[in-house]
Amino acid sequence: MTDVAAKDSLTVTDNRTGQTYDIAITDNTIAAKDLGQIRLDEEQPGLATYDPGFVNTASCRSSVTYIDGDKGILEYRGYPIEQLAEKSNFLEVAYLLVHGELPTKEQYDSWVHEITYHTFVHENVKSFMQGFRYDAHPMGMLMASVGALSTFYPDARNISDADNRHMQIVRMIAKMPTLGAWSFRHAQGKPYVYPDNDLGYTANFLSMLFKMSESKFEADERLVKALDVLFILHADHEQNCSTNAVRSVGSSQVDPYSAVSAGIGALYGPLHGGANEAVLRMLKRIGSKENIPAFIDGVKDGNERLMGFGHRVYKNYDPRAKIIKKSAEDVFEVTGTNPLLDIALELEKIALEDEYFVKRKLYPNVDFYSGLIYEAFQFPPEMFTVLFAIGRTPGWLAQWSELVQDKDQKIARPKQIYTGDRELTFTPASERWS
Ligand SMILES: CC(C)(COP(=O)(O)OP(=O)(O)OC[C@H]1O[C@@H](n2cnc3c(N)ncnc32)[C@H](O)[C@@H]1OP(=O)(O)O)[C@@H](O)C(=O)NCCC(=O)NCCS
Repeated sequence: MTDVAAKDSLTVTDNRTGQTYDIAITDNTIAAKDLGQIRLDEEQPGLATYDPGFVNTASCRSSVTYIDGDKGILEYRGYPIEQLAEKSNFLEVAYLLVHGELPTKEQYDSWVHEITYHTFVHENVKSFMQGFRYDAHPMGMLMASVGALSTFYPDARNISDADNRHMQIVRMIAKMPTLGAWSFRHAQGKPYVYPDNDLGYTANFLSMLFKMSESKFEADERLVKALDVLFILHADHEQNCSTNAVRSVGSSQVDPYSAVSAGIGALYGPLHGGANEAVLRMLKRIGSKENIPAFIDGVKDGNERLMGFGHRVYKNYDPRAKIIKKSAEDVFEVTGTNPLLDIALELEKIALEDEYFVKRKLYPNVDFYSGLIYEAFQFPPEMFTVLFAIGRTPGWLAQWSELVQDKDQKIARPKQIYTGDRELTFTPASERWS
């Protein structure tokens, strides 16, 4: 307690006791532990905050990704997403996220070489994946097989060693497309295709997905570029649900395969990775442009939501949505147009002019067009989150790496407000049931 509060502080009076406290404000936050000094008496626990879903709680300091939702800004390590999507490629962006700065030519070549060298997985991983049921969801297969990698690389437990961390990061970014593609082939009953290390990262992924009897699979460059851009757009998004899962599990100092597997689990859920599928269903249901006004009326009456619109963080045009819209045009140039695109464009035009959406700051998000693109690639909806996971892997690993080197971090262990019974007397089953 001080009489004169410092400028960067919060003065709080506990009306239960009349006591006043000064709490330091740093980076526009107060440290939750500082609230612990506010207590009724020495016997009572200190004050805590109640924040389900962490809607107003910072869990870490991070220099990986910056978002300004009101202005529609997304930057990786300070570089605007628009510039990275236009002028970089996924592996360079992965390097940037993981290492914190852009690579020199030597660093880039060595990074690409390392990632390419590690695209193969142990044959036992293949046997393990072949053991899944014929209709196994590819995301479940990916989650399990990434978790299983921890048993193939037991040295990954040595997370305090920087070289070791680097090795696992390379392995995971390299193997994720292999595991993702094999999960896809499995559901189709097709043989798994081994990596082709003559191809670039994204071209090789397409080869493992779609190659049949031809000796070499070469995807159209425009499709390779579009998918590469989609990976860049999904590469990180600061403390979202799956990244929080990676950090939370990683805080126990478990190996990174187990931590990333938890992130894949979080991404599997419909509230996180599943909105683009819902957009497709919605567009199919609307069916033609003439039905749009009636659909919009239904949304405004609160009977349904315009899927792919609105975002917890972005209260402006999601910067990724603009880039995706352009990618969609490039993809449809190759695959032929999808009639659903016309409905989406018209829907967007109407919604952006309608007072209901303008007033609520509802703009297209990353999922409004991504499902259309994936469908043009002939991916079934179950694959959408697998593609998201491959793109998000460098972000998860950059955040994990930051976590394990952050001296402020402790094992994640939130408080609770206990609402159950206390001090009951236990009666043995033999007496309760007699
Ligand atoms: C993403 C989302 C969950 C964010 O939700 P949120 O930040 O909690 O926003 P709220 O649900 O509080 O919505 C605020 C207002 O906008 C409305 N709203 C939000 N998203 C809407 C949408 N997609 N369609 C119609 N109305 C919407 C809400 O009904 C609410 O209106 P009200 O103030 O009259 O009650 C939400 O916008 C949504 O469900 N969007 C559709 C699903 C989607 O595209 N998800 C992908 C996100 S990347």
